[in-house]
Amino acid sequence: MTFFFNSDAKRGAIFAEAFSRELPDIPFSMNPAGVEPDEVRYLITWTVPEDLARYRNLEILFSIGAGVDQFRIDAVPPHVKVVRMVEDGIVRMMQEYVALGVLALHRHLPSYLDQQRRQNWQAIAPIQASERRIGVLGLGMLGIAVLERLKAFGFPLSGWSRSAHELEGVRCLHGPDGLDSLLGSTDILICLLPLTEETRGFLDAALFAKLPTAAGLVHVGRGPQLDHQALLEALDTGHLSGAVIDVTDPEPLQAGHPFWRHPKILLTPHIASVTQPASAAEAVIENIKRHRAGLDPIGLIDRRRGY
Ligand code: NDP
Ligand code: OXD
Repeated sequence: MTFFFNSDAKRGAIFAEAFSRELPDIPFSMNPAGVEPDEVRYLITWTVPEDLARYRNLEILFSIGAGVDQFRIDAVPPHVKVVRMVEDGIVRMMQEYVALGVLALHRHLPSYLDQQRRQNWQAIAPIQASERRIGVLGLGMLGIAVLERLKAFGFPLSGWSRSAHELEGVRCLHGPDGLDSLLGSTDILICLLPLTEETRGFLDAALFAKLPTAAGLVHVGRGPQLDHQALLEALDTGHLSGAVIDVTDPEPLQAGHPFWRHPKILLTPHIASVTQPASAAEAVIENIKRHRAGLDPIGLIDRRRGY
């Protein structure tokens, strides 16, 4: 029975140390050439290896990230559990990034950066946080954590999901009617949806049109959810006032793409949140213990929903 770590060696060393301490009976391997395929019960990776079929006794396929859209889940045998990364490090970093993005838009940072470049010293009338309505698409591990962190600033908060949720201090909406209601009353929209067939291209012209004039966007979900052209048009007509974009399609974004130099866009290279190896190793070890005890791992993917 082997745990096969198919990612970078630096993080692997931290996982190896945690496994030797907490699951010493499970051999740990980082070497695809040296591992005995029939022995592999657990595999952690970012993308599914082409030769997945050789691991005939695989029980759990772990994603090293919070998302699993990079897996071709249909190609994973049905008996294999697919598990996303649920760990505190990812959550904390996403809270920081979204707070940064929301505050940047709330306090007109893209405009001030542009003014700085043009040596233009000019105040823009501020709006109080209590007047700036925040809407979060996705009320999962990250959406909920981000809303929790934003409470301290006093923004009116709303969130939207597929199923009904209740969160203290947050107006929770769901389904198609809930989406229209959220969009119509959101000044800064945050996308924290997983990428599925339903959310591909979700941030499009029709969606932007439902936001109030001068709304902003913080996009930290996945690149293919955003229609780049629609965003550019919404920004250029002034319907949207600014965007903080961490994910694009493709990644890296191609040279010369208008996002690089757009004065209303703050662009980062998919760094909003990064798996932290020590806490991630603990989370994976806990999940293997749960699995061995006959419990479902935390972060188990529902194959029908795709997340
Ligand atoms: P979860 O699976 O915990 O939550 C997903 C949420 O989205 C749920 O609330 C779900 O609704 C909702 N949802 C999914 N599909 C739909 C739909 N079609 N309509 C309405 N609501 C929908 O995911 P996480 O919070 O852990 O992560 C979200 C995403 O963030 C990841 O999939 C990944 O793509 C992205 N991410 C980005 C990172 C970055 O660095 N930029 C880092 C980490 C993650 P319900 O609750 O009803 O099921
Ligand atoms: C993730 C990511 O899914 O980094 O963890 O995007």
